[in-house]
Amino acid sequence: MKSFSVIVKKKINKFNKSISIDGDKSISHRALFISSQACGVSKIKGLLESEDVLHTIAALKKLGVKIVKYKNIHYIYGNGLGSLKTRNNLKIKTGNSGTLARMLMGLLTNYAHKIKITGDKSLNKRPMERIFMPLKKIGCKFEPTNKKTLPIYITGSEIPTATNHEEKIGSAQVKSSIIFASLDAPGITTIKELKKSRNHTENILRFIGGGIKVKKFKNYNTIYVIGQKNFDAFNLTIPGDISSAAFFIVLTLLAKNSVIKLKNVNLNPTRTGIITVLKKMNAQIKIVNTKIKYGEKIGNIIVKSSNLNSINCPASMVPSTVDEFTILMIAAAKAKGTTTFAGLNELNKKESPRLNLMNSILNKIGIKTKLKKGTIKIFGNPKINLNKSYKIQSLFDHRICMSAFVMGQTFGGQIEVKDCNSISTSFPNFLTLMKKIGAKYEIK
Ligand code: S3P
Repeated sequence: MKSFSVIVKKKINKFNKSISIDGDKSISHRALFISSQACGVSKIKGLLESEDVLHTIAALKKLGVKIVKYKNIHYIYGNGLGSLKTRNNLKIKTGNSGTLARMLMGLLTNYAHKIKITGDKSLNKRPMERIFMPLKKIGCKFEPTNKKTLPIYITGSEIPTATNHEEKIGSAQVKSSIIFASLDAPGITTIKELKKSRNHTENILRFIGGGIKVKKFKNYNTIYVIGQKNFDAFNLTIPGDISSAAFFIVLTLLAKNSVIKLKNVNLNPTRTGIITVLKKMNAQIKIVNTKIKYGEKIGNIIVKSSNLNSINCPASMVPSTVDEFTILMIAAAKAKGTTTFAGLNELNKKESPRLNLMNSILNKIGIKTKLKKGTIKIFGNPKINLNKSYKIQSLFDHRICMSAFVMGQTFGGQIEVKDCNSISTSFPNFLTLMKKIGAKYEIK
């Protein structure tokens, strides 16, 4: 997609709206991967059609999976575990998507062909050793052998080993990659999850009768993958993505006299750190009409403009809030008092060095910060009212673009956000929905 900037010249007027957010990205990726391994035709409704997810569809098609869209439903023709069609020198592009790259390599662990995995400029810089290590233990080979990033050649094994793993980063991508690698390994694989992360992979597999069991302990979970247990095709409706809803939640909190209702959002407790954090900051947020569907909590979120206070947010909140810190930093910039977010080193390993970038964006608009060893202190200014022009470099990071956009709608001044085309990797309807609630902007 061609690069474009978005310019915001005016604050948003008060609004009272009800909207539906695009489908959950994490669940969309997983629904595709898991249905590709099921027996029969799965029907997925409301799949997110963002660039990241479209790359997953393209990758699976390249591996011989038939995927057809008719009306709002994607039909995925699964042929059971081990049914992907691989060959030597196959090349698969994973675009900007760390989730696709890491999970796909998990699935490919069971195929003894040499396959090249590439990413875009940003993804080729991101750490992959975190999955190379466990996948090597299962039987994979990665070449060049000392390389820790993409592009890489992966060669799987015909006899993958069911073994024991520990997940210490709090990364759901690593955990899911190991689960996908173990689904077709004879025997029982265990994953000791020392930092609990989003559990959609486990939920879907459990819901459809796949070979998975989770034992919950106080400080960790143990996941058991029972290998070579085939499962039937399934039907799934994808709920709204809380990581996308986050931008509308904070926009409403910071706008004047406004209310928003966000319908059918996924409220899995491994994802709702943002709501916990904002409520502690005095945000008026109500969750209503909750139900459990396919093992996932879903509900409507009602948000009202609020005067926010600062928070001291511990590192333990990171796994459940990981993608929401860029927008939380905007909230903290307008909160009363000094906010501390601790344990954010992982943020610099995302689509851009997010922690460093957000720190410099806040400084650019006159918000004082202190950044040391993954902890950022933000000295909030509830009266912030910008009156100059600012150019924000997003480094092609979708969440930086959307956070800077919300900043423009609520802090004043003229904000030009560069390279907003990246928004379509996760939230293609972002700008349209913003327009629907009254946000004004120009595209350049
Ligand atoms: C994701 C997990 C998180 C998150 C990413 C999506 C997933 O990454 O940042 O946007 O779908 O599993 P990590 O697993 O690297 O923390």
